[in-house]
Amino acid sequence: MIDLIEKYNTEIDAYQITDLVELEQFRLYYLSKKGILSDLFQQFKYIDPVNKKIIGSRLNQLKEKVNGKFEYYKSRLTRAEKPFTGDLTLPAEPFISGSRHPVSLIRKEIITAFSKIGFTVAEGPEVEDDWHVFSGLNFPLEHPARDMQDTFFIERNPDIVLRTHTSSVQVRVMESQKPPIRKIFPGRVFRNEAISARAHCIFHQIEGLFIDKCVSFADLKQTLMFFAREMFGDKAQIRLRPSFFPFTEPSAEVDVSCTICEGSGCNVCKYTGYLEILGCGMVDPNVLEASSIDSAVYTGFAFGMGLERIAMLKYQVNDLRHYFENDIRFISQFKSAY
Ligand code: DAH
Repeated sequence: MIDLIEKYNTEIDAYQITDLVELEQFRLYYLSKKGILSDLFQQFKYIDPVNKKIIGSRLNQLKEKVNGKFEYYKSRLTRAEKPFTGDLTLPAEPFISGSRHPVSLIRKEIITAFSKIGFTVAEGPEVEDDWHVFSGLNFPLEHPARDMQDTFFIERNPDIVLRTHTSSVQVRVMESQKPPIRKIFPGRVFRNEAISARAHCIFHQIEGLFIDKCVSFADLKQTLMFFAREMFGDKAQIRLRPSFFPFTEPSAEVDVSCTICEGSGCNVCKYTGYLEILGCGMVDPNVLEASSIDSAVYTGFAFGMGLERIAMLKYQVNDLRHYFENDIRFISQFKSAY
């Protein structure tokens, strides 16, 4: 009988149980009333009393082994198959979603506003030559914007620079496309300025360009009015002040009625009722001709605005540095649908 017990001992060690069906087969085979153990205990009754002690202890060890293996697999397999017992009425774990950077939000809003009146988007390089940033835009050679003070130079003679404005994309588009042109150019620009609450060496602009036959200053005003109302609400008013840019003539700076006090005066608009938002004008004929567009046939308008500036007005964030520091406490305040 000892041999028989040993045989089952090794058999049990090797027995593979991978699921509840196999566990039940194991139980029936070894532990049930007609199973191996009960058969062995039956035979044990007829053992010679001299051998009973030693065989009895072996038999008990075998029994413990079978029970142990059964209990072990029972708890392991039933735990895995346990049905869900949680409370489905409890509130869900909060899902932390990301948020867009405020400058991205403003960029998207501006693109959406202009796309409603037929403007499409184009982009140009951040590293540019002198022609596209300055000369092609009618900047005189001695203009201060070309100066070391303002421009980051990558190479000198011929000059390769980090673009100081997105007006450079105007030149690229005029060179490669025939009018009518109705486009906006969003992008990053660079100026050699000391970083403070009101200035940064990197910022973002959106430039606009519309060239066709018979484009007038009235078209420019209407376009800007439409834009201001899309961005700042139906009550927004605009005001144009004469200004100067080398690439537009006449030129203007555009103010929008203060978004906080609606024009009645507050400390955001410094009690003027207006906030400056962009520069604009009729494309200078020299600029058209420099890109081989016949200025006797075509006229156009252009405008350019800073995205951080518009974001500051819209979100009342008065320190430019917040836009570049990627502080999650700042960025996560700007949740949006897109
Ligand atoms: N490029 C100008 C700047 O960076 C902004 C600007 C002003 C763009 C007038 C224009 C414009 O197209 O007509 O300050």
